[in-house]
Amino acid sequence: MGDIFDTHSHYNDSAFDSDRDELLSSLFDGALCVAVNQGTDIPSSEWGIEYSRKYKGMYAAVGLHPECLSKNSFDDLEIIKKLALSPKVVAIGEIGLDYYYDIPRDLQKEIFIRQLELAAELSLPVNIHDREAHGDTLDILRRYRPKGILHCFSGSAEMAVEAVRLGMYLGFGGVVTFRNARKTVEAARAVPLENIVLETDCPYLSPEPNRGKRNDSSNIIFTAQKLAEIKGLSTEEILKVTKSNSERVYNVSI
Ligand code: NI
Repeated sequence: MGDIFDTHSHYNDSAFDSDRDELLSSLFDGALCVAVNQGTDIPSSEWGIEYSRKYKGMYAAVGLHPECLSKNSFDDLEIIKKLALSPKVVAIGEIGLDYYYDIPRDLQKEIFIRQLELAAELSLPVNIHDREAHGDTLDILRRYRPKGILHCFSGSAEMAVEAVRLGMYLGFGGVVTFRNARKTVEAARAVPLENIVLETDCPYLSPEPNRGKRNDSSNIIFTAQKLAEIKGLSTEEILKVTKSNSERVYNVSI
């Protein structure tokens, strides 16, 4: 069994339409042990559940992403609640705040909080998207105290330490390998390895040396190599510890 645990992927994306099953079969035959597919809306959440039946190593998170909100989102929350009861659903995600896009912030916050409450009700962890919304994200973490992962962590070292203090895990992916990633590197350095998990956010955010190309879980090796450099440990140690962190946060045993 492989040592790569991808805590955040989007294999439903159309970028994989031409070779999805071929790719997933070869990844699961190789270094990949688990990929958690994140829902961004109802269809992608359902897709993750369907694919989790097809591959032993595939698990699903279900949720409404801030970029996917509409007037129907309150009704969709009811559907997410039902989907969350399916076998192999390990988290509510991808949920959170995105202030880069012009989406009404009150709506974003309300849907985010409703999903944190749902996760608490079902005793599930969450997978959180925070883009240019660090202040409000931290406020909400302090108020609702969810368990889970801040995905593609992009805050400061100070925020990283505070998030860990609140019991969160931080997800690091391709960005940490980028040339201009000083802030992300500092954040990774500032927190214990026991609070770090690895992710792709594929098909996006391929690490160096594959930056700009379609991403998949096999590229996690490059992120692990970079973290090994940051932490002064071997790549094998990084993969081993982050895999066990991922099993713990998602409550899966493999
Ligand atoms: Ni994502």
